[in-house]
Amino acid sequence: MTASAKNTPASQRLASVSTAPPDSILGLTEAFLADTNPNKMNLSVGVYKDASGKTPILECVKEAERRLIDDESTKGYLGIDGLPAYREHVRQLVFGDRVEADRIAVLQSPGGTGALRVASDFLVTQLSPIRIWMSSPTWANHPAIFNAAGLPSDTYRYLGSDRTSFDVDAMIEDLDTKTSPGDAILLHACCHNPTGIDPTPDQWKQIAETVAMRQLLPLIDFAYQGFGDGLTEDTLGLYTLLDAVDEAIVCTSFSKNFGLYSERVGAVCLIAADAGAMKASQSQLKAIVRSNYSNPPRHGGAIVATVLDDAKLTDQWKGEVEQMRQRITRLRTDFVTTMKTTGQGHDFSFLLPQRGMFSFSGLTPMQVDQLKQKHGIYIVGSGRINVAGMSEEKMQQLCDAVAAVLES
Ligand SMILES: Cc1ncc(COP(=O)(O)O)c(C=O)c1O
Repeated sequence: MTASAKNTPASQRLASVSTAPPDSILGLTEAFLADTNPNKMNLSVGVYKDASGKTPILECVKEAERRLIDDESTKGYLGIDGLPAYREHVRQLVFGDRVEADRIAVLQSPGGTGALRVASDFLVTQLSPIRIWMSSPTWANHPAIFNAAGLPSDTYRYLGSDRTSFDVDAMIEDLDTKTSPGDAILLHACCHNPTGIDPTPDQWKQIAETVAMRQLLPLIDFAYQGFGDGLTEDTLGLYTLLDAVDEAIVCTSFSKNFGLYSERVGAVCLIAADAGAMKASQSQLKAIVRSNYSNPPRHGGAIVATVLDDAKLTDQWKGEVEQMRQRITRLRTDFVTTMKTTGQGHDFSFLLPQRGMFSFSGLTPMQVDQLKQKHGIYIVGSGRINVAGMSEEKMQQLCDAVAAVLES
């Protein structure tokens, strides 16, 4: 340990700061990197990997970047709400003609996480007192973001007692009996993280009716458009909600469906009952951004706008999203099939209706720990497996390890 040369009382202020616990998911990646097991596998963090184990740059993105290198003429600041062309494409991609354009404010944000934080700051500064209701379980960063913004949160039940199915009745009962009018509710538009279990169309109707009746404000996290049933199909839950309520906030991300993880590009979209209310809220959202990160980074938004401005690149992108989606579905099916014939044979067919990058395996925290300690396989403590990180090559190895912990 090194000591400061100036040993004054002011040198000691930071001695009282305690160490923060490692991030529950990113911390696992740190442990994975330090693991010397040559057969180790990281199925914790939510990134897509191709057959060679890489997180690829999409071809349409490469082409857009080539064009940007040639044509981009400035690195000057963007406006507080980002690139106009980008914002218009987000509006069309997410909302189509479903909501009048003059009722929607779109702000480009640093990823879906940035969008969620801006939305949380908005709820706290503009609509307090307010509480947000999240599914139990939800993505671990949701409560962390709400806490950081000072937004009180609570949970509604989501999983059935088997922990492998959605219990819509329990969810509705919690919303009916626990929420207050004016509260916010966090909903995952598709590919629920961490469970991969989405409501059916009829269940979405039930949820939307309850949200409307209880006068809840939906905060819809739409981080996986295209990874569930398709780019258009994945709007079903969102549109069902928007048919039932006049006001909502939608947080989107291009991390997954454009593979732009490190470019930090998403959007916070606010829908108001009319253009006047939208304008006022938009001005507040901009004020929040200004005092936080001032304005968003250009590059990711410019890539998305370049692709979606060009019909051929857009078609290419849609094809690439579809390829990723189909690969994930194939891997999920392969896992279920291989588990059936591994060890004493294990039925994981409950995974088949699950959607998106993740599957909830039903493994206990102890089994998850054994997978890590004995087999160098890293999944999240809740039993969440990143299916998009599996590979055909290592499928048998993975299933042998899962069977071993189930049978031990
Ligand atoms: C449910 C959910 N929402 C939002 C995000 C935000 O992603 P990003 O900030 O990388 O765009 C993620 C990323 O893993 C997620 O799983």
